[in-house]
Amino acid sequence: MKYTNNIFTVENCSLKKVVQKFETPIFCYSQKRIKENIKKFKESFKSFSPIICFSTKSNSNLEILKEIKNNGLGADVVSKGELMIALKAGVNPKKIVFSGVGKTKSELLYAIDKNILLINCESRSEILVVEAIARSKKKKVDIGIRLNPNTDAKTLKQISTGKKENKFGINEKIFIEVSKYIKNSKFLNLKCLSVHIGSQILDHKPYQKMLNVLDKLIKKMDFKFEYIDLGGGMGIDYNKDNKKFDFKKYNQIINKFLKKNKAKIIFEPGRSIIGDSGILISKIIYIKESSKKDFVIMDAAMNDFMRPALYGAEHRIIPLKKTKKMTHKSYDFVGPICETTDKFLTTNKFQKLNENDYIIICDVGAYGSSLSSNYNIRPKPAEILIKGSKINVIKKRQKLEDLI
Ligand code: LLP
Repeated sequence: MKYTNNIFTVENCSLKKVVQKFETPIFCYSQKRIKENIKKFKESFKSFSPIICFSTKSNSNLEILKEIKNNGLGADVVSKGELMIALKAGVNPKKIVFSGVGKTKSELLYAIDKNILLINCESRSEILVVEAIARSKKKKVDIGIRLNPNTDAKTLKQISTGKKENKFGINEKIFIEVSKYIKNSKFLNLKCLSVHIGSQILDHKPYQKMLNVLDKLIKKMDFKFEYIDLGGGMGIDYNKDNKKFDFKKYNQIINKFLKKNKAKIIFEPGRSIIGDSGILISKIIYIKESSKKDFVIMDAAMNDFMRPALYGAEHRIIPLKKTKKMTHKSYDFVGPICETTDKFLTTNKFQKLNENDYIIICDVGAYGSSLSSNYNIRPKPAEILIKGSKINVIKKRQKLEDLI
């Protein structure tokens, strides 16, 4: 993704062509970038070749899931819907793990019928429901237990999941109790210890702490888990300030852990696979002047891309067509929705923009389209996947008729 003759280009496709052909806002992905990210991820951990289950919640577009599956990944799902779409994409059930604190009985029944790799249970009650289903089907079901390691991931508090005050996982004491129960069950196989401490983690140290907790627990339990599922969470460089997650370090500390605890590692990455492979193209409807700054009112809004409104996340905004003329005023890039949080970014320095210009919100591949909504009865944008110079429509823009 780069500028060619001052026009932003994805692979061999000029975005000028895209906006001539399609309505905005529109999500646009690069197949090549997805492939490169998967290759890098696999290479980073090739010394222990983990099972990599793509976190479906980060991007649940069927065609994207097919691309990811074609590159050898499995899926991490958190609902019946995600499990259904992963299977429809052709993901091997033996590469699917099911996470979540509130799986219903019907969701668990469906997952057990599909013989997926693991159901990662998050409470004593859930384990009993899985056991009851397994008993009724005269089956032995493979499960994992998600530990709450009480580890601070040092990320945004809204996306931290590993501290004791968070709803996720089971604390150490109860973990040991339920493990004993499972070991004596005729219908449950305890195969996995799972954790996931949060998302957009840029420092490897929280992972080191988490691994120390696992190490101690395994020693205490004197039990050999076939799988250790370390979840996802590896962050990406949204601000291009070179604060990158150190995959090499993470690989090293896992290798150290594996020397003491032999097991197959499972990962559940979302953002690190898909985050920087997607952009959102938007058109400027109006530019409204104000005393200190100008409001750039775009046709994309918080319903299309929630991260800034929901977490205060900052995503770079760049022009589709680069010019040399700069503005001396600050811009507030906002959407048309009647909420003050419907704002993407404030910039101090930007090229002078005009109404009907196009701009690009960067790195929206993860938790972009999957978090979008129909708030204000706004149809969800179309999605396209660029492969070389080919544009493939992978989701049509919703029609108002379907919403009304
Ligand atoms: N595994 C589990 C159990 C998870 O809950 C998550 C994300 C992942 C894996 C994938 O994490 P990743 O590698 O993508 O960081 N909407 C928020 C992020 C929420 C993450 C929820 N869980 C955002 O836009 O930042």
